Amino acid sequence: MGEAYAKLFAREGASVVVNDLGGARDGTGSSVGAAQTVVDAIVAAGGTAVANTSDVSTVEGGKAILATALEAFGKVDILVNNAGILRDKTFAKTSEEDWDVVVKVHLKGTYCCTFPVWNWLKENNHPGVIIMTSSTSGLYGNFGQSNYGAAKAGIYGFMRVLALEGARYNIRVMGLAPGALTRMTADLPGMQGRETNPMSLPENIAPTVLFMASDLASEHTGKVLAASARGVAEIKMVQTKGFRSETPYTAEDVAEHAEQIFFPSSVERVLS
Ligand SMILES: NC(=O)c1ccc[n+]([C@@H]2O[C@H](COP(=O)([O-])OP(=O)(O)OC[C@H]3O[C@@H](n4cnc5c(N)ncnc54)[C@H](O)[C@@H]3O)[C@@H](O)[C@H]2O)c1
Repeated sequence: MGEAYAKLFAREGASVVVNDLGGARDGTGSSVGAAQTVVDAIVAAGGTAVANTSDVSTVEGGKAILATALEAFGKVDILVNNAGILRDKTFAKTSEEDWDVVVKVHLKGTYCCTFPVWNWLKENNHPGVIIMTSSTSGLYGNFGQSNYGAAKAGIYGFMRVLALEGARYNIRVMGLAPGALTRMTADLPGMQGRETNPMSLPENIAPTVLFMASDLASEHTGKVLAASARGVAEIKMVQTKGFRSETPYTAEDVAEHAEQIFFPSSVERVLS
């Protein structure tokens, strides 16, 4: 997905730092070629890009990505936090290492890359946009993804807080819940055969990321957009009017007012 974003941003005239550790889907290994291949394609097409192969899940890695941008281009306007790995298993089979590494790459990785960019923007009084990649797996839940869902829901909360803090510095913070055919999703049920459907490809997600990063979205911050073959929709945390009480209430009172407290199950998730 990051390759599609980088290429579209470069076509729009952005100077891009392409970061990729180049590891396997489960986060093991690394290779320097992945980011450079994307950079070469961007440069061959007349764009401007440089590669960075740091590990986003470390503080040093996040600092190095900003340093690459500052050395090459002198400033930063947009950060897209996108790197991710998977260790899908039902919860009982999840090891502590599976938990730690998934949370580290997604949630801490988003912190490690955002922190230096945030402070650079703030200290230079420079407007900016920070995009964070969440997932419906965390926002709604998805079987077998306890570690990943926890990290992705954490990113949502992180995004909401930074949107509030960023308003005074002219920093917008947006979330993305993408859905596309990549190596991450290629073996999921229903994904086979979609290679030829342009709606299912990462290139179909990139325009939504470009929208969020651009002035077209200047009035939006603190929001998550779901983007997939179905189209684009906002995902929002909402609360029912609920049961109100001016006096202490019992568990039975709560049960009696279930109709006011809970959403009708038919509105829990609108997908089509
Ligand atoms: N594909 C989907 O449908 C889907 C759905 C929901 C969320 N997402 C999210 O979108 C993002 C992109 O996923 P994708 O589908 O393109 O997967 P992908 O596996 O094709 O790409 C993920 C990239 O992240 C890089 N990466 C992993 N760990 C890294 C690290 N520590 N430092 C630097 N780079 C690292 C990998 O090398 C890889 O290039 C992820 O955050 C993923 O969780 C994807």
